[in-house]
Amino acid sequence: MAKDPGRVLIFDTTLRDGEQSPGASLNLEEKLAIAQQLARLGVDVIEAGFPFASQGDFLAVQKIAEQVGGEDGPTICGLARASSADIKSCYEAVSPAPKRRIHTFIATSDIHLEHKLRKSRKDVLSIVPEMVSYARSLVDDVEFSCEDAARSDPEFLFEVIQVAIASGAGTINIPDTVGYITPSEFGELISRINNNVPNIDEAILSVHGHNDLGLAVANFLEAVKNGARQLECTINGIGERAGNAALEELVMGLHVRRSYFNPFFGRDSDSPTPLTAVRMDEITKTSRLVSNLTGMVVQPNKAIVGANAFAHESGIHQDGVLKNRLTYEIVDAKTVGLRDNRISLGKLSGRSAVRARMEELGYDLSREDLNEAFARFKDLADRKRDITDRDLEAIVSEQVQQPEARYQLRLVQVSCGNTLRPTATITLANQYGQEETTSAVGTGPVDAVCRALDSLAAVPNELIEFSVKSVTEGIDAMGEVTIRLRGEGKLYSGHSADTDVVVAAAQAYINALNRLVASQAVCSLHPQRDNVDVHPLPSL
Ligand code: KIV
Ligand code: ZN
Repeated sequence: MAKDPGRVLIFDTTLRDGEQSPGASLNLEEKLAIAQQLARLGVDVIEAGFPFASQGDFLAVQKIAEQVGGEDGPTICGLARASSADIKSCYEAVSPAPKRRIHTFIATSDIHLEHKLRKSRKDVLSIVPEMVSYARSLVDDVEFSCEDAARSDPEFLFEVIQVAIASGAGTINIPDTVGYITPSEFGELISRINNNVPNIDEAILSVHGHNDLGLAVANFLEAVKNGARQLECTINGIGERAGNAALEELVMGLHVRRSYFNPFFGRDSDSPTPLTAVRMDEITKTSRLVSNLTGMVVQPNKAIVGANAFAHESGIHQDGVLKNRLTYEIVDAKTVGLRDNRISLGKLSGRSAVRARMEELGYDLSREDLNEAFARFKDLADRKRDITDRDLEAIVSEQVQQPEARYQLRLVQVSCGNTLRPTATITLANQYGQEETTSAVGTGPVDAVCRALDSLAAVPNELIEFSVKSVTEGIDAMGEVTIRLRGEGKLYSGHSADTDVVVAAAQAYINALNRLVASQAVCSLHPQRDNVDVHPLPSL
């Protein structure tokens, strides 16, 4: 049986696999903000990125390793293909963290070997020990993944895993890369690995899985029953294609049904000891932060973090819940940190009240960031009577999107109505502070704003999605706008909130355009699509 830490380790890959979602690219400040929140959430490992992809990815992993991974904090991990150049770069990026991990991988399925890598099984069996031991010569903590394990020949998989462990891998990860397997098959595969790999007791077994058939969470729970003790997951289930297994669903599944899962950990079924180290009351906040910064809107009926997850609509249900919550509720919303929107601050609140509330919400802002947040707060308080926690969260997430901005929005003015042609006037400043103004006519005020912005920024793009929702209730609520646009074949998203939805739309559009421009300046590799030649080991 594989090593058992006595509970499930949560390996969060929101910043690596999650960031591979179309349109979800994040800047350095945003990655740092998410990593800090993941540390507050209590995940065991943060996969912070793929350092070899680009200079930007490298710097983000390095910053997270410097600022987020403490002695008592999460392990900071980077992804590396089974190549010495990738592994070296990964090592350099994660090295500032006291607890650091290199996660290296190579595909093991025949379909990947033949069509993607153009390598034989024999090649893989010689690359794995060379690369795992190289990684192990740099750090103590090495994870090895057999990409597309779920479609690999199990006998070959056993051989590769045995070799990886013998070369020093302490964690063996079994990915269902294409989301193909079913729960009982996955459980059986994990059990067969446990029974057929002679040195499996020297490693922790981990699983990674995609949601192409909507089975990722169910697959993982079956894997846990068969000895998997690390789950690779993402906040809101974001990730490549249909996404990854959702962290919040796994954690809450293991919590709510712990009496069912406890015996698989050798515990009494009524043991109260948690099965993960996640602080469940941080889940809602983490979900909102990730959604705001990635522009990946959470569907209302999404388990645990969707807007309707705790809403009872039918009269019969409402009546039952009023008599006894347990009639229709298996999770109390407070457990995942969903509070009534506390009306906390207003126009007369001072800086220290804002700072104190921000700290209570878990935002530890630097002096400059607090100054900026306070200015935004004052501006909002002039337009909106009660400032809620959600408003403060919107202010913070707005702020972290700005630092690398190429274009700054200086003025938005629209005229529209049933007898007017919707017209927008926009002033934009470039990175040197030079301003330009133009006007455009559109089918509506938002269309007019986008046309004016397009003619000023002159960055070819196509608007793919525009969505507005209110942050809180009430006529003076802030409207949150998410925009997704396509430029040079890739998706980019932007998000913004304001009491004026037209202003929010203009800012969200600018945020998306800024991302598009920033990504044009770098050439970034994809860990799974871009092939690698196995470089020889650097000579000593
Ligand atoms: O889906 C996958 O196989 C991966 C690996 C790189 C772990 O993301
Ligand atoms: Zn993946």
